Amino acid sequence: MALKITVIGTGYLGATHAAAMAELGFEVLGLDVVPEKIDKLRRGEVPMYEPGLEELLRRHVAGIEGSTGRLRFTMDWAELGEFGDVHFVCVNTPQRHGEYACDMSYVDSAIASLAPHLKGPALVVGKSTVPVGSADRLAAYLAEHAPAGADAELAWNPEFLREGFAVQDTLRPDRIVVGVRSERSEKLLREVYATPVEEGSPFVVTDFPTAELVKTSANSFLATKISFINAMAELCEATGGDVTKLAEAIGYDDRIGRKFLRAGIGFGGGCLPKDIRAFMARAGELGADQALTFLREIDSINMRQRGRMVELTRQELGGGPFLGKRVAVLGATFKPDSDDVRDSPALNVAGQIHLQGGQVTVYDPKGMDNARSIFPTLGYADSALEAVRGAHVVLHLTEWREFRELDPAELGEVAAERVVLDGRNALDAEAWRRAGWRFRAMGRPGA
Ligand code: UGA
Repeated sequence: MALKITVIGTGYLGATHAAAMAELGFEVLGLDVVPEKIDKLRRGEVPMYEPGLEELLRRHVAGIEGSTGRLRFTMDWAELGEFGDVHFVCVNTPQRHGEYACDMSYVDSAIASLAPHLKGPALVVGKSTVPVGSADRLAAYLAEHAPAGADAELAWNPEFLREGFAVQDTLRPDRIVVGVRSERSEKLLREVYATPVEEGSPFVVTDFPTAELVKTSANSFLATKISFINAMAELCEATGGDVTKLAEAIGYDDRIGRKFLRAGIGFGGGCLPKDIRAFMARAGELGADQALTFLREIDSINMRQRGRMVELTRQELGGGPFLGKRVAVLGATFKPDSDDVRDSPALNVAGQIHLQGGQVTVYDPKGMDNARSIFPTLGYADSALEAVRGAHVVLHLTEWREFRELDPAELGEVAAERVVLDGRNALDAEAWRRAGWRFRAMGRPGA
């Protein structure tokens, strides 16, 4: 009989994973403790903007016309325990307030709520990003608290999906990593992932600590690449070099590669910043902090870029205070194709200028509601053109395709001054210059 799968936590990770599991042909039951989320999902609505996810969900949610009916949602732990052979834990692990360490309370409470309902053999699979050592601790907890005892096993299966590509990354992952302690767990996970493995996704089997470390080291490596190129951008600015050419040239070396070498205002979001901090905190607890002191520098290079963007803007406005200056900000989300504004460099820059007296007007294709709710005092416009109207300077801070397709001549008609600063090195400098704009970008020679 086909495996029955449950997914605990229905945020980015969980909602996508649940829909993908249904797409792979399994019966799936998703659980969340927030009733509004469950109501929305039952109607086939996704609580966030993620390309392709709503369609995928609607294809499977029970009760939606034409759906396979394979995907249902509940808030009842007993129903969940009864239903599933394999339980995926997809709750979030944010940064602890006032500390670098990871807040494990959602994972711990999910496992504590599930354990009493595991009455027969079951596999609990952690997907959340956790400090190394957590799986070991949680496996012991399950064995002690589940009525099934040692038959309630744990495995760790880190997630590598990118926002904006979540559906594709979940259905066709570039690797599947499973930390397991028994052949039975490995066999079950091979069954769950049979389709992507047949389609070519490598399947890497490890122990618990390696599986946990794969995730945090992958995100640390990505963060390091971005901060490396941003450090080179600082040197380019000091010497008159061009960081986009530098990235292209070093990127042809396939040991280095072109990806994740786009200089600009740096990384943000719900993952990279908090993951490198939690990794440092955990290394400290393990007495291995020296191994990760470099991440402190990666974090500080990254945070510095936001301040550099503010200073570049100040310079372009004549060097004085921002008082009375109108600043158009294109982009609020931490990356394009997402409505996520968590630790967004774009919103951080907009906020800094606003708090220093600038009149900031923000436009973002999908992130307006989230931006408004965390930063209600900024000005917001309904289009790029409206944001730019009357502006003394235009900042391009999230590289949405819509912004690359703007007509610089049309914007030039409504701006008070034709000055544009590209914080993502993604606009066509020549096209803007031809339309009479002064174009500046981070790590590149000025106009
Ligand atoms: C990241 C990882 O890429 C995923 O593999 C991982 O699964 C996920 O975190 C997670 O831990 O859940 P994501 O947060 O969606 O995914 O964002 P990224 O695509 O990694 O981008 C992060 C930030 O880096 C963005 O703010 C982006 O603008 C910035 N970035 C990216 C640059 O500044 N330059 C680049 O060249 C690339």
